[in-house]
Amino acid sequence: MRLLMAGSPGSGKGTHSRRLSNCLGIPHISTGDLLREQVALGTPLGLNAKAFMDRGDYVPDEVMVGMIKDRLADPDADRGFIIDGFPRTVTQADALDKMLADLGQSIDAVIVLEVPVEEMVRRLSGRRTCPTCQRSYHMDDDPPADDERCNDDNTPLERRSDDEPETVRHRLKVYSERTAGVIEHYDTDSVVKRINGEADIDEVHRRIDEALGISGSAVRPPVQSG
Ligand code: AP5
Ligand code: MG
Repeated sequence: MRLLMAGSPGSGKGTHSRRLSNCLGIPHISTGDLLREQVALGTPLGLNAKAFMDRGDYVPDEVMVGMIKDRLADPDADRGFIIDGFPRTVTQADALDKMLADLGQSIDAVIVLEVPVEEMVRRLSGRRTCPTCQRSYHMDDDPPADDERCNDDNTPLERRSDDEPETVRHRLKVYSERTAGVIEHYDTDSVVKRINGEADIDEVHRRIDEALGISGSAVRPPVQSG
């Protein structure tokens, strides 16, 4: 399956992409995670991107298109993928169309998680993230087993630098101005699956399964890494 996971900041893209990736055995490709890896490595790309990310602005299209093109060339993407957080602009959507056409591939579904703004703000204010594997937790709704450490690799959890309330508000504004319209790019292809994401995580996962026509992946235990 080749899936795009879309939705506002805090809508649950990472949470559900990770679950689907474990269940379907296809890679989860998050542009936010790829950028944070570059920031952590201190590469020129990462240092340049950090300024945009800390403000809650988008990183320039040419950087993002190059990043996805390189990632889709990795062998594990041959068997399918879930791309989380790309495309976010019409330019990125056009570039992805071209990349996939060149590979003789197409998108099977665009999952759009729809969550009210106040709930997204609540989720982001309680989020903690693992800096090693990028897994997200919520201290009330999806807490780690051991207080403030990642279940998968035991790394101490952190708060993302762009989860400050002021930056969250800006990210939500940028999304509604620049990305909400990108969904229309796919509407004509009847691949868009709009999911009401205002429910607990298992129920949202069940709704995604139903929309994709796969059953029971919500109840399978996630594959542990390491
Ligand atoms: P990115 O990392 O993609 O951030 P985002 O889009 O703002 O989305 P988030 O990762 O914050 O939220 P999410 O939807 O993944 O939610 P999560 O599952 O964590 O991008 C970061 C930055 O990188 C961008 O601002 C931009 O600068 C740059 N960038 C990335 N891609 C780009 C591109 N294509 N073009 C240009 N720039 C780009 O869940 C959130 C919280 O809610 C968690 O705590 C989770 O545990 C909890 N939760 C999830 N689901 C539920 C539920 N059903 N009930 C209760 N709690 C829930
Ligand atoms: Mg995410």
